[in-house]
Amino acid sequence: MAHMRFAVLTSGGDAPGMNAALRGIVREACFLGHHVLGAQRGYYGLLEADFIPLGPRDVSNILQRGGTFLHTSRCPEFRTPEGIKKAAENLRAHHIDALIAVGGNGTLQGCMALEKEWDGKIIGLPGTIDNDLYGTDETIGYDTAVSTALDAIDKIRDTAMSHERFFLVEVMGRDSGFIALQVGLNGGAEEILVPEEPVDIQAIVDRFVAGKKSGKTSSILVVAEGAYPGGAAAVAKDLRSLSGDDYRICVLGHLQRGGSPTARDRMLATSLGAFAVRAAMAGESGKMAGEASNKMVLVPFADAVGKKKELDRELLDLARRLAM
Ligand code: F6P
Repeated sequence: MAHMRFAVLTSGGDAPGMNAALRGIVREACFLGHHVLGAQRGYYGLLEADFIPLGPRDVSNILQRGGTFLHTSRCPEFRTPEGIKKAAENLRAHHIDALIAVGGNGTLQGCMALEKEWDGKIIGLPGTIDNDLYGTDETIGYDTAVSTALDAIDKIRDTAMSHERFFLVEVMGRDSGFIALQVGLNGGAEEILVPEEPVDIQAIVDRFVAGKKSGKTSSILVVAEGAYPGGAAAVAKDLRSLSGDDYRICVLGHLQRGGSPTARDRMLATSLGAFAVRAAMAGESGKMAGEASNKMVLVPFADAVGKKKELDRELLDLARRLAM
């Protein structure tokens, strides 16, 4: 097999484990005798030909770090035909044979647009805390984000219990409730609000009243940021106006995106990184590397971003039954 020139980038919201993925890609490619260039700041790196050579030593001591040492961005210019053409020209000018892009939905959509203008191999890696990509059981960063949010909920519960208060905790998830469901179920939340379902404020108040009657003195309501227009603050306002009760609010926000990746995220990132290199070598392109039922798989970009990954409704029901 001829030696190839790989480009790698991280794009969109950063996710813990992106560094582990970069290390996996760079070291596997170098082990196999290939060359790797890192494009800095996501797709801007392709638009501005901002490439740095990456060898095994350039990815030392990053496995355990959150964020991405290549930096990341959301890049509106890359959504324009001119931007895509420029990126393709720069990839050709640098004699790149294959691109591996780590990111979420927007990143993979960028890959799909680039495919039309560039004939190199393109493999995506699912890097987002949202876990909203179809075809992979989990995305890189999701497990860490869930652990971080769960740790916060446990702490909130201490103070909620002590003061006999109601708390609303807002977690990330504009369009999907994966984080809210995991955190709500495992944190014993009384309510879990997700974007996949309509929110019935009166029903929540009724359940709170019933809970109080049955002896509950504190409650935690987990709200995915996209579950209700205005997020947890708006839910609190509407609950207050119906029930007269006071609700404390805690928005976890970008805390959930940082921190050292869990073992599970490192494992996923490392194995998918190496797998992506071998997939491109084998001539695969236009696909996201993922893991489904403990097997590494390649999912066409159109499916990964186009098909809806469904929330596990049984788990949601279980969480609700146990919150009695
Ligand atoms: O896609 C990851 C994510 O963290 C979402 O959960 C969240 O809605 C969004 O990014 C926030 O984006 P930004 O960091 O650009 O505000």
